[in-house]
Amino acid sequence: MTVAKPASRPDVPHFSSGPCAKRPGWTPQNLKDAALGRSHRAKIGKTRLKLAIDLTREVLEIPADYRIGIVPASDTGAVEMALWSLLGPRPVTAIAWESFGEGWITDVVKQLKLKDVAKLTAGYGEIPDLAKADPASDIIFTWNGTTSGVRVPNADWISATREGLTICDATSAAFAQPLDWAKLDVVTFSWQKALGGEAAHGMLIVSPRAVARLESYTPPWPLPKIFRMTKGGKLIEGIFTGETINTPSMLCVEDYLDALNWAKSVGGLNGMIARADANAKVLSDWVAKTPWIDFLALDPAIRSNTSVCLKVVDSAITSLPSEAQADFAKKLVAAIEKEGAGYDFGYYRDAPPGLRIWCGATVEASNVALLTQWIDWAFAETKASLAKAA
Ligand SMILES: Cc1ncc(COP(=O)(O)O)c(C=O)c1O
Repeated sequence: MTVAKPASRPDVPHFSSGPCAKRPGWTPQNLKDAALGRSHRAKIGKTRLKLAIDLTREVLEIPADYRIGIVPASDTGAVEMALWSLLGPRPVTAIAWESFGEGWITDVVKQLKLKDVAKLTAGYGEIPDLAKADPASDIIFTWNGTTSGVRVPNADWISATREGLTICDATSAAFAQPLDWAKLDVVTFSWQKALGGEAAHGMLIVSPRAVARLESYTPPWPLPKIFRMTKGGKLIEGIFTGETINTPSMLCVEDYLDALNWAKSVGGLNGMIARADANAKVLSDWVAKTPWIDFLALDPAIRSNTSVCLKVVDSAITSLPSEAQADFAKKLVAAIEKEGAGYDFGYYRDAPPGLRIWCGATVEASNVALLTQWIDWAFAETKASLAKAA
């Protein structure tokens, strides 16, 4: 069956799951007030960094007693700082259902060499039994698994009276899904995801209980300078007021401020969540009427509204060897990229072959809808060329 080539392209064809699309209307002109060529420790720099922290608290509705720090090395840096600084005194429960969560398990087991680690894992498209997470242990998990499109349904499975800490990698959830702060002791994210900000800077948010651990526990392993949050057993408060550990990019800070102000202009957290939900709904409506595609996450309760992962379920494709299925998905995406109608929405390299379409708030629903038309076209074209080659 042939499908006519769509008449128009998304006006922004960016659907990458990171770095994600810039916010609608973004131009480099928005960064003209950046404190460039000035010290980040001068008043002007410190004021911009403090504003970034204050606006983060406002937009994400973070409790007043949680501390917010801007740290090096993006989300990865923030998670590593937390793991290396906090883990050791208690057993650990490490929960993973896709590549990034698996990566944190590797760190805990192979790098930190912790012995008392319970692993709760599930395959792509599924989630482990979260109720098995022991509240006496430190619990590490990813709120939204970016490579499988599976998120936790809520934080009800975390005990309000837990003895351990919860460490949550929320990079593809923050600004798109409600985070239950009372249940989270450490939350991390990077600017490049749901805000469409720039890469390389991480956010580390810590609860009073996490601070108490930092001030009462010294890990047995060495800590590089960029991980160190305490001095002489006391928290370095400056990190959480804008005195960053090392030099940040003030251009990226300005871009983050621009994104936060845009988030406020679309209704703050609820507005951002509603935009992501609306984008994801365009995809679920399309999946409902398109027989050859389905979600990797079959259960809507755990399905992401940001990194939406899809699989081809047409028997002509699923009957192929797995490399040929991967090749099919790659060719489909490449056909659309060649047309300039959609970029970077192929599956993550460790995930089952398919598509991954970013639906965070910086993407417009009208563009998601146009992309689905292009995918219909590319599917028919790619399948036809497969049949011809056979
Ligand atoms: C769940 C998750 N954790 C960690 C990362 C790594 O983020 P960064 O490259 O900002 O360090 C990503 C990036 O996609 C992610 O999706």
